[in-house]
Amino acid sequence: MFMKKFYVTTPIYYPNDKLHIGHAYTTVAADALARYHRLRGEDVFFLTGMDEHGQKIADRAAAEGVSPQVFVDRMAEGIRALWAALRISYDDFIRTTEPRHERTVQEVFRRLLAQGDIYLGRYEGWYCTACESYWTETKLVEGRCPVCSGPVSRLQEESYFFRLGRYADRLLQHIETHPQFLQPESRRNEMVAFIRQGLEDLSVTRTGFDWGVKLPEAAGHVAYVWIDALTNYITAAGYPDDPERFARYWPADVQLVGKEIVRFHAIIWCIMLMALGLELPERIFGHGWLVLSGEKMSKSRGNVVDPVVLVERYGVDAVRYFLLREVPFGADGTYSEAALRLRTNVDLANDLGNLLSRTTAMIERFAQGKVPAPRSSELRAVAEAALSEYERAMGALELSGALEAVGRMVAAANKHIETAAPWTLSRKGDPRLGDVLYDLAEVLRVAAVALSPALVEAPAEIWRQLGVERPVSEATWDDVAWGGLVPGTRVRRGAPLFPRIEAEERSEPAAAAAAEDERIPIEDVRRVKLVVATVLEARRVEGAERLLELVVDLGSERRTIVSGIAADYAPEALVGGQIVLVKNLKPSKIRGVRSDGMLLATSEAGHVVLLRPDRAVPAGSPVS
Ligand code: MSP
Repeated sequence: MFMKKFYVTTPIYYPNDKLHIGHAYTTVAADALARYHRLRGEDVFFLTGMDEHGQKIADRAAAEGVSPQVFVDRMAEGIRALWAALRISYDDFIRTTEPRHERTVQEVFRRLLAQGDIYLGRYEGWYCTACESYWTETKLVEGRCPVCSGPVSRLQEESYFFRLGRYADRLLQHIETHPQFLQPESRRNEMVAFIRQGLEDLSVTRTGFDWGVKLPEAAGHVAYVWIDALTNYITAAGYPDDPERFARYWPADVQLVGKEIVRFHAIIWCIMLMALGLELPERIFGHGWLVLSGEKMSKSRGNVVDPVVLVERYGVDAVRYFLLREVPFGADGTYSEAALRLRTNVDLANDLGNLLSRTTAMIERFAQGKVPAPRSSELRAVAEAALSEYERAMGALELSGALEAVGRMVAAANKHIETAAPWTLSRKGDPRLGDVLYDLAEVLRVAAVALSPALVEAPAEIWRQLGVERPVSEATWDDVAWGGLVPGTRVRRGAPLFPRIEAEERSEPAAAAAAEDERIPIEDVRRVKLVVATVLEARRVEGAERLLELVVDLGSERRTIVSGIAADYAPEALVGGQIVLVKNLKPSKIRGVRSDGMLLATSEAGHVVLLRPDRAVPAGSPVS
């Protein structure tokens, strides 16, 4: 039987620093894709690994007083542990110091030299060790590296060069005739402009140090670290010794890379492949950066965020979900712990978690704990539309869009509870009750399948609480077909899927530092609906000295709110005046009185000061 294959790669990671949440971004995205394609029954090969050679790593090892090999071995443990914590399901973890890889690099060099694409010359110019990149004088910015702003050093050495220019036209033609090949479009345009400027021959060996792949044809030289590193993608697929395996997986279907290394992949890597007579990857996707307050994360900038700590604090699903959902894949995005908490609370604890607890509770209460047999469905069309949007989005690598589609289906189910009011249907003995309860449980069942590429724990718990016999790990994409939940299945209520995360108490300086990071996007501000309200009535709440009960006019409706302002405002002084009210706050009970909104105030020297409009405006005027 023909089985579609799916070969996905991440860049291989430098082991020079502890990896931060930004690094986890590429890997979690690749993992979600790999899991999705496995779910679809494809022959998936997911590759990640480590880029262990080069001057930068030799320097770090020397600074720590160990040999480079001891240094990279030690770092490899940390990186594997991080991927284990994030539940990265790679099929191969390649290390460029492995003999299988060194052999491939030597073979690639030998072939390119033999066919005249590589020749011996002399390099004179600048080199950034942090980026392992060559730069001409004109590209430097104030004498520093144009990418990382780090120092560059002058190099003058004998070197082998690769004639990139020979392949420039073929590469341009490939890019133009394969719109999927290089994405997103903005990066494709940048690369096309770059290639059109003309490609200089690339120095592909170094002589100043020896921590690299040694080349039998070039004594005293080691392979330039990027030539070495890029080759990993074909080493792992079996080139050149395992032609059968290589034919099975190459070309890669998706190569994910961060935007700063698109240049190396789209140009150097693809020209290497062309020169070797190999096919180009189907798709190279350059994703954006996750930044902290507008700056790329890096240890040297002192703003590293440790993903292992975040996983311990919030759970693996919260971290994975945030990375995949928060930012449209391809764009830059801002990371903050507050944003991570908000995402988890809103999407996972409130929307998904509550749907599960409400659904299982109602099935217990109104249907003796068993999934009822439905007569018809009101949510099926919504779910099917969401799932087909999910498939489209995953195919287009719109990971956030795919999860958003699942979110829409979950939101529709929550809304269905409000509008269908199963408690009323039950009281009236209305047979629609069974349809509604089945719909809710079935949405949860299919949502768990669709979420399983992103979340690694919650889907299993959803199926368990719904009483599905099979473990979700055995699910396939066929399981999203509507109607899979067997009527009569006994639900098993359990603990909340995602307990709400309360904001942390922090020390003053930590809170001040975090405040800067905790900026929220405009959409979050827009979610809070503020209006001006006119106070119609005000009275003290019995037995509570500080509380006033206010009846306010919002133009279209009246509301009662309870507020702790009695020490500073007499009830009669408020009547007829105006306040600013948070209109879409969930109601709560305060001292037995239902409070449906919250007024805005500040305080000064321990006294409450109300915020009010500068002059009277119609009740209900929105505040924006
Ligand atoms: N070793 C090279 C890749 C060689 S591939 C043949 C390298 N390694 S890296 O460790 O510096 O970066 C690995 C990946 O992490 C890159 O895709 C990079 O873009 C990504 N990220 C590092 N910091 C990031 C953010 N702050 N945000 C998003 N991705 C980031 O480059």
